Amino acid sequence: MSVDLSTTFTGIKFPNPFLLSSAPPTESESNIVRAFEAGWGGVVTKTIGLHPVVNVAGPKTKFLRYYPELGVSSMNKGRGGVLQSSWNWELISDKTLDWWVPRIGRIKKAFPDRVLIASIMAGSGSDKELDHWRSLATACQEQGADGLELNLSCPHMDREDMGSNIGKDQKLCSSVTQVVKGVAKVPVWAKLTPSTTDIVLEAGAVFTGGGDAVVSSNTFPSIPLVDPETLEFEMNVDGYVSSGGLGGPAILPQSLAKMSQMTRAFPERSFSGIGGISDFNQALNYLLLGCGTVQVCTAAMLDHAVGPNVIKRLVQGMSEFLEKNAHRGWKRLEDFRGIRRDRIVAHSQIRRPADSDYQGGHEPQEGYAEPARA
Ligand SMILES: Cc1cc2nc3c(=O)[nH]c(=O)nc-3n(C[C@H](O)[C@H](O)[C@H](O)COP(=O)(O)O)c2cc1C
Repeated sequence: MSVDLSTTFTGIKFPNPFLLSSAPPTESESNIVRAFEAGWGGVVTKTIGLHPVVNVAGPKTKFLRYYPELGVSSMNKGRGGVLQSSWNWELISDKTLDWWVPRIGRIKKAFPDRVLIASIMAGSGSDKELDHWRSLATACQEQGADGLELNLSCPHMDREDMGSNIGKDQKLCSSVTQVVKGVAKVPVWAKLTPSTTDIVLEAGAVFTGGGDAVVSSNTFPSIPLVDPETLEFEMNVDGYVSSGGLGGPAILPQSLAKMSQMTRAFPERSFSGIGGISDFNQALNYLLLGCGTVQVCTAAMLDHAVGPNVIKRLVQGMSEFLEKNAHRGWKRLEDFRGIRRDRIVAHSQIRRPADSDYQGGHEPQEGYAEPARA
């Protein structure tokens, strides 16, 4: 039986809901071409900016694995262990907008039915920086980019007016989104940082600014482990580290928690889920919470740089899932999207043993009616 994996998300038609996220798998034309040939429904380009980018003088990404026989987690003991996470302190693309522009045009001409989203990033501290957002947006959409993803989430910025420092500020989330919407002819997604107290507030600010979708998660702030022999951080430059980003299997439950907060608060809005996906079983979690697309980075990096086997497994997994559930009348993603969104409730709403009464931690008040449950 042939199944229909296609979907429409923020008005864009996708052959399947699986994208490579903005990261090394989408840092070059050749990678993106290979990704489309392998079957990815879409890609989000490595983030493009107008400010100078110089990466650290050492490795930019490593993978933390657990070695059960040694009882250790390490980045430096080879492939024998079980993957826990990626850790990176890589900045955005070190290629200029001029380098990207013709490539976006060429890729779209060669793959008109695949989705190319341009990830862009600028500052927010001056009119000049806000103009940079406009220039980036205009240049990419003129080349045929199907949509724009605003990077409000890069965790490695010293600049107060950029990256996750925008994503931590509701007013800036709104105003930057509004600036880009002012020139955008294509849908605008905003990628938020998970590193805030209540991500629902920043998501709301993006929607107030006119954003068409919220994307989450970027990597979680973290540091590498110390090697017990050398007492040096496993990843460092001249002995020094700074806070970088954790991705891969370790962040899946945390990223799902962030996503569930947002999809419950805005059930009618569009969300793209990222974090710890390597197979359809993980992607399914995001879809059941209400996401309309999902994105992958770490698993693709570890699979021939662009994830040809990952996309094969995602497509096969979703096809088998639809076939298995055909008796429920499910034919496509829209038929099961979001069906577990409302199963996440306040702690006090979870059933207690029949003979007990729980007031969410509050004492019953003598002489008053029962307090309303949250
Ligand atoms: C080496 C590396 C570079 C990344 N660069 C970017 C970037 O330029 N822009 C961006 O929005 N996210 C960037 N990310 C974050 C990923 O797109 C993704 O949100 C994150 O890795 C979580 O997904 P995963 O668990 O599938 O890895 C980067 C991640 C890694 C590991």
